[in-house]
Amino acid sequence: MKAVRIHAFGGPEVLQVEEAARPVPAADEILVKVHASGVNPVDWVVREGGNDALRAFLTLPLTLGWDAAGVVEEVGRDVSGFQVGDAVYGVPNFPGNGSYAEYCAAKASQFARKPDSLRFIEAAGVPLAGLTAWTGLFGHGQLQAGQRVLIQGASGGVGGFAVQFAKAKGAYVIGTASAGNLGYVRQLGADEALDYRSQAVEDLVHDVDVVLEASPLRDNAARANIVRVLKPGGIFVSVNVDFPFDEAMQAALARQQATGALAPNQPRQDWLQEIAELIDAGRVQVVISRVYPLAQVADAHRESQTWHVQGKLVLEIGPGNE
Ligand SMILES: NC(=O)c1ccc[n+]([C@@H]2O[C@H](COP(=O)([O-])OP(=O)(O)OC[C@H]3O[C@@H](n4cnc5c(N)ncnc54)[C@H](OP(=O)(O)O)[C@@H]3O)[C@@H](O)[C@H]2O)c1
Repeated sequence: MKAVRIHAFGGPEVLQVEEAARPVPAADEILVKVHASGVNPVDWVVREGGNDALRAFLTLPLTLGWDAAGVVEEVGRDVSGFQVGDAVYGVPNFPGNGSYAEYCAAKASQFARKPDSLRFIEAAGVPLAGLTAWTGLFGHGQLQAGQRVLIQGASGGVGGFAVQFAKAKGAYVIGTASAGNLGYVRQLGADEALDYRSQAVEDLVHDVDVVLEASPLRDNAARANIVRVLKPGGIFVSVNVDFPFDEAMQAALARQQATGALAPNQPRQDWLQEIAELIDAGRVQVVISRVYPLAQVADAHRESQTWHVQGKLVLEIGPGNE
């Protein structure tokens, strides 16, 4: 099968489209014929050799990509709930061999049925970013209907889903983005959209129950500053798990009688199912800013590395438009 693998860590030039052996599913796995794979910032972070949280888990050669949409080709003997021919989406094997390939084998529990209303290229943009937003808002942030949430990086992959999930839950949503993306963030459903470059967000926002840091900024002074918007008892959740809170940030949280949490995304089937239901009910839209053929994976990485993608980037591998 065709796969994009790396044999060394480095720049986009280490990405090689090559022939690789088709994986054989273990007893608890499904083999998926991949029609499309999402591209996430972690793909190029791994390509470059990982970060403090990931480095120890990476082995070479490695097939990148941890966002798949496709069709079940084989089912391991202990798997129930999936049949050959099912259209599925999920987060396969992070950070092992992933979805930039014609086939991937991964635990069945990392997949759910693809939303019926989405084509494969759209569905491939959902799982990793969507589950990260879900884990942050509801797993760690315990966001409830009627609460106020501030979402940083609201125009990005994770942030865009977070805005829509929080709104669907009945929260009051404030999102931050660059000036050119404020209309987009409002169109996703945010009640307020603020420009993180030109506006002092910490002076304009107050009484927030949950802050979700879904921006790529890794800066504890900026974190400690924004903690002021939280209510006593509020929660600051960061999805940037590779960048822990320092002492000053911990002290800022204590002063505000707030707590902090780092949120690694959890590839949970039940959450993927809930997300699919919201999408099929028309309550969450999937914004794909660009689709690349597999052979142009290096260009997709270059675009992701700008940190200014609106929505998601996707690689088309099979018939992604079905
Ligand atoms: N915990 C996990 O498992 C997990 C999973 C996925 C991602 N992540 C992390 O989540 C973060 C977002 O990932 P993503 O996939 O959503 O990235 P993305 O699609 O590239 O979006 C990032 C967004 O952040 C905004 N941004 C860029 N620079 C900024 C800055 N200096 N200050 C504030 N906002 C800025 C951009 O908005 P504008 O273009 O409007 O400026 C952009 O829309 C990354 O740090 C990533 O590492 C964690």
